[in-house]
Amino acid sequence: MRIGMIGCGVISKQYLASFDQLPDVQLVAVADLDRARAEAAVEGRDGVRVLSVDELIADAEVDTVLNLTIPAAHADVDLRAIAAGKNVYSEKPFAVTTQEGAQVLEAAREAGVLVGSAPDTVLGTGTQTARVAIDDGEIGTPIAAVATMATPGHERWHPQPDFYYVPGGGPLLDMGPYYIHSLVTLLGPVAEVIGAGSRLRTERTIGSGPREGEVIPVSTDTHVTGVLIHE
Ligand SMILES: NC(=O)c1ccc[n+]([C@@H]2O[C@H](COP(=O)([O-])OP(=O)(O)OC[C@H]3O[C@@H](n4cnc5c(N)ncnc54)[C@H](O)[C@@H]3O)[C@@H](O)[C@H]2O)c1
Repeated sequence: MRIGMIGCGVISKQYLASFDQLPDVQLVAVADLDRARAEAAVEGRDGVRVLSVDELIADAEVDTVLNLTIPAAHADVDLRAIAAGKNVYSEKPFAVTTQEGAQVLEAAREAGVLVGSAPDTVLGTGTQTARVAIDDGEIGTPIAAVATMATPGHERWHPQPDFYYVPGGGPLLDMGPYYIHSLVTLLGPVAEVIGAGSRLRTERTIGSGPREGEVIPVSTDTHVTGVLIHE
């Protein structure tokens, strides 16, 4: 699988480290709106080309576009890549709205390409062990599950935390996918949701990097609770 990676920010470093351990995966090109970031990401890696986003999407050598952009750009980049006949694998959240997510899936179906999305942690030992425990009847019939995640905020460590505090960010779409995809894997699809959200602060202060001390606005809910009713 020949990969073209779009978005060379914080999380791209983990993907780059993983590629070195995956002999069936070859990184052939990278792109970022900020070209300097793309160049820095692959400095010292032979054979990886730095392209513009449009060039990478059109590149004949790329089989799969790895989309590591910010949430608001996920669906747009996916749709452009699918239109060019590429498979796509996107960081989470899959899309910012249900409608955009459905558009991506429909476009991929029509184009006959594959779509994947982080998180893939359900394939890891934790959720798979839980899956076996349920399938083997070790705990009887599960009747409910609880998932909770709390943190003061990613602006404490992320140097460009803006996307966490606009629609597409917030704990529901940033960390929620990890918990919700485990719950769906273990208990099945969700048919109904009852939920509530709120935001405590209207501003956050960046805690690291070149923008440390800068105040950014909060335009999405930062405290979200829900009851998911599985089918
Ligand atoms: N940082 C983490 O620990 C982490 C962990 C897991 C998942 N993620 C997810 O990965 C994604 C990226 O996170 P990050 O922390 O690397 O963000 P980041 O802001 O550090 O990097 C995003 C990069 O994408 C580029 N970009 C934005 N829009 C683009 C577009 N339309 N076309 C091309 N490039 C574009 C930006 O210039 C930037 O370099 C997010 O969806 C996030 O939820 C992040």
